[in-house]
Amino acid sequence: MPPAMATLTITRLGHQGDGIADGPVFVPRTLPGEVVEGDVAGGRMAAPRIITPSDQRIKAPCPHYRSCGGCALQHARDDFVTGWKHDIVRQALAAQGIEAPFRAPHITPLHSRRRATFTGRRLKTGALVGFHARASDVVTAVPDCLILHPELTAALPLLQDLTAREGSRKGELSLALTLSDAGLDLAVTGGKAPDGPRRANLGQWAGQAGLARLAWDGEVIAQEHPPFHNIGRARVTPPPGAFLQATKPAEAALQAAVADAVGTAGHIADLFAGCGTFAIPLAEHAEVHAVEGDGAMLAALDAGWRHATGLKRITTQTRDLFRNPILPEDLARFDAVVIDPPRAGADAQARALANSNVPVIAAVSCNPVTFARDAKSLIQGGYRLNWVQLVDQFRFSPHVELAAQFLR
Ligand SMILES: C[S@@+](CC[C@H](N)C(=O)[O-])C[C@H]1O[C@@H](n2cnc3c(N)ncnc32)[C@H](O)[C@@H]1O
Repeated sequence: MPPAMATLTITRLGHQGDGIADGPVFVPRTLPGEVVEGDVAGGRMAAPRIITPSDQRIKAPCPHYRSCGGCALQHARDDFVTGWKHDIVRQALAAQGIEAPFRAPHITPLHSRRRATFTGRRLKTGALVGFHARASDVVTAVPDCLILHPELTAALPLLQDLTAREGSRKGELSLALTLSDAGLDLAVTGGKAPDGPRRANLGQWAGQAGLARLAWDGEVIAQEHPPFHNIGRARVTPPPGAFLQATKPAEAALQAAVADAVGTAGHIADLFAGCGTFAIPLAEHAEVHAVEGDGAMLAALDAGWRHATGLKRITTQTRDLFRNPILPEDLARFDAVVIDPPRAGADAQARALANSNVPVIAAVSCNPVTFARDAKSLIQGGYRLNWVQLVDQFRFSPHVELAAQFLR
């Protein structure tokens, strides 16, 4: 069908942060109550003209906002975005018949993002490094990005240099850059894996660039010094590209929420433990059993714990908690459980917890829908959702992160 010109009123925001008018018609970067005009094709008004703006609308603070797909909600007031994210969690819980009190949210500061994955594309001369425009293969350079830590921004010319040397004009490089407490840690995927002299040259390049570590397709090419992270009293060197919370202030807020939730528990299971974001600080007061699917992450946790002082025992177990959840009888020895699954949630493990006698569960989630599903299992098993806290570590994006406490 050819595009049809329409005048529409936005009634709500969808989960990607797009405005939605009756139809439904998706209208990017609009807000509820706004009247917009433009061509509609395939259920989408791609380039709306705002006829009546919302009083929640502001001028986007970032100069890249128009072309960059990294952020979706810079055109709205901060309070509006926080309220919208609270509503997403409330609605996900309500869909499962659950209500809960909300604690005051943590909103992560600007310029605090310590890890980001950029796209690199070689050009006829030089290279382009940045974020994709939304649903597009266009790459936007982001030298004035508001969310990145200044040390990541300062490294963009290095990534350009690397892409100009190693990238191709057909494919793209994926450049996962993490700011460790010992400098920059770069994990590249895509392109042609370096071998022979190319590999030696790259090693030299990484040294000159001052990177702590350079990995390509998961293999370490150069390590000037271990890129460690201070987690509680331990120094942990994660495997290349491993999961870490996106900003340090949000990591601290999540650690504080989890510590508060488990209280004085002396024996804690940390499920989906990663490299020990929660296990290590909790081990200042409790013995912790850390369970995680990725053995290399647990090895990093274990090495960090072994070299630290003043921590109680941390034991580790590599285990697929989707297929092989910890059973109620094996949970009986813990007086608290921390659970922080990936976006898919922890269906099987939540069902096993529902049949356990663990008195308190600290839950962390990056997906309100699976969180609410798993909360329902726990509540059906006799738990009460005592509080929920939004931890907005993905400022201006539609992603929602939260912590919560369940009590039996
Ligand atoms: C959201 S991250 C949380 C990591 C850690 N709690 C943190 O805050 O840094 C989820 C973790 O679950 C792990 N994971 C994913 N699928 C898993 C599975 N089926 N069984 C066990 N762990 C899994 C991932 O490797 C990742 O470390």
